[in-house]
Amino acid sequence: MKINRRHFMHGAATLGVGLVGLKSMSMAQAILRPLPILPMTNLIEGFDNRISLSLSNSTHDFGTGVTSATFGINNSYLGPVLRVKQGQTLPFEVYNTLDEMSTIHWHGLHVPGEVDGGPHQQIQPGATWSPDVPISQHASMNWFHSHAHGKTAKQVYKGLTGVMLIEDDASLSADLPKTYGVDDFTLVLQDKTFDENGLLNYTLTETAIDDGFIGETLVVNGVVAPVVQSVPRGLIRLRILNASNANFLNLSMATGPLNVIASDGGFLSSTVETDTLTMSPGERYEVLVDMRTVEINKLIVSHELPEIGGISDYLSEFNKRGLRSLIGKLWNEGEAETLALTLNRKDERGFDAKIPNNLASLSPPNPSTAIFTRSFELNQYTGTDLGALAAIGDNYCGDGSAMAINGKSMDINRIDENVRKGDTEIWRISVDDWRHPFHIHGCSFRILSQEGKQPPTYAQGWKDIVHVDGEVWSEVLVRFDYDAPKHAPYMYHCHILEHEDCGMMGQFTVT
Ligand code: C2O
Ligand code: CU
Ligand code: CU
Repeated sequence: MKINRRHFMHGAATLGVGLVGLKSMSMAQAILRPLPILPMTNLIEGFDNRISLSLSNSTHDFGTGVTSATFGINNSYLGPVLRVKQGQTLPFEVYNTLDEMSTIHWHGLHVPGEVDGGPHQQIQPGATWSPDVPISQHASMNWFHSHAHGKTAKQVYKGLTGVMLIEDDASLSADLPKTYGVDDFTLVLQDKTFDENGLLNYTLTETAIDDGFIGETLVVNGVVAPVVQSVPRGLIRLRILNASNANFLNLSMATGPLNVIASDGGFLSSTVETDTLTMSPGERYEVLVDMRTVEINKLIVSHELPEIGGISDYLSEFNKRGLRSLIGKLWNEGEAETLALTLNRKDERGFDAKIPNNLASLSPPNPSTAIFTRSFELNQYTGTDLGALAAIGDNYCGDGSAMAINGKSMDINRIDENVRKGDTEIWRISVDDWRHPFHIHGCSFRILSQEGKQPPTYAQGWKDIVHVDGEVWSEVLVRFDYDAPKHAPYMYHCHILEHEDCGMMGQFTVT
């Protein structure tokens, strides 16, 4: 086994002491930018025409003072927030103006394989993809992103990501904040790397393929954190997506707990109070912050820093970049902590209701309903020389054969599993090393065990991502209710996008 990040971090722990001076300097220099409110397309009342999403080359200033080359979906970076309702069929028109092939996958949606937007539904440059996407599931926060096999990591990093909020009758009448941009905010959290000129950088190195691409800078809705937002005196709802390529984010509040009301697939049975919330790439959580009791509160996000050679290299990097993209961080043991979002209370009264203790009816998962168990071992190490792969310098993961699942790299012409529609199954996932967020298309599942334990209470509702760690199994209870034929199969994969591109992905049919 090679020396991976975890071991590096342990080794670096004792060096943390030397960083105290830097800590106060970095905090003092923090610039608070306003929280960008991602443009919302509200489709709840219906639509007259096809809903068009245009994938395009763009430029965007992340707040570093210069514009970087990006991809956008109807925007300069990222896409709109689509607000839709259960029961609708959404007639999309996805136009690819890029000069490379792309796709748009609806992550979290329970839709047939034909319209899932995975690697088979390629949109060539200049072409339009027009799926009719039926929304049958309950209220939940979902997202959409490129799934162009071999290019997903780079395309998502450059901006091909948007959010879809599904509402239903219950969520629309629930006693919860729902005024977008006032007491209901969507936060897309991502880690990025900026070079010394403030330009967005994506350079695959051996480490960045191995661990996935990790950035030093936290970006919220497309600008460098910290950001600030003023809010009324009441409950504030934050709908949060970790759209990082590879980084796990640990969230907490400066004052009080996070009140978690929903996970990937919808509402929890009741609000879960937690001091910390760990979000892998691809995960969504909704939380309430009570701004009646405090005048100011802060969402704190900690995450790993890229492995750039040790603490002394961070110091020189820090100086070189003139604090530009590294502000607002506390540095410690290879991790950065960012005061991501400051909420400032205004005088005006806001949404005044109790934190709900009855959100959805959700019985505990019953594994005895499963009629079949499938096992998946994620193979991070297949013997491929990742250094040589990185040295090619095209920032793609080669032919996608460096990593695998059950010994086989993703092959678009091979179906790995056939599932019978409506059957409940147990999927058991393990890995040879490191930690991986495992995602399954076309469903929401319940986690039976995560890294050998009960998952945290906030992860006991509907999920489509489970964390898998080196030494033990994770198990989920899953059922598929839609068809995915041979020519339009669903995917299961690691949601570290460089791993997915390297072949840590498989295909299955549902019939
Ligand atoms: Cu969000 Cu197959 O992915
Ligand atoms: Cu997905
Ligand atoms: Cu992985």
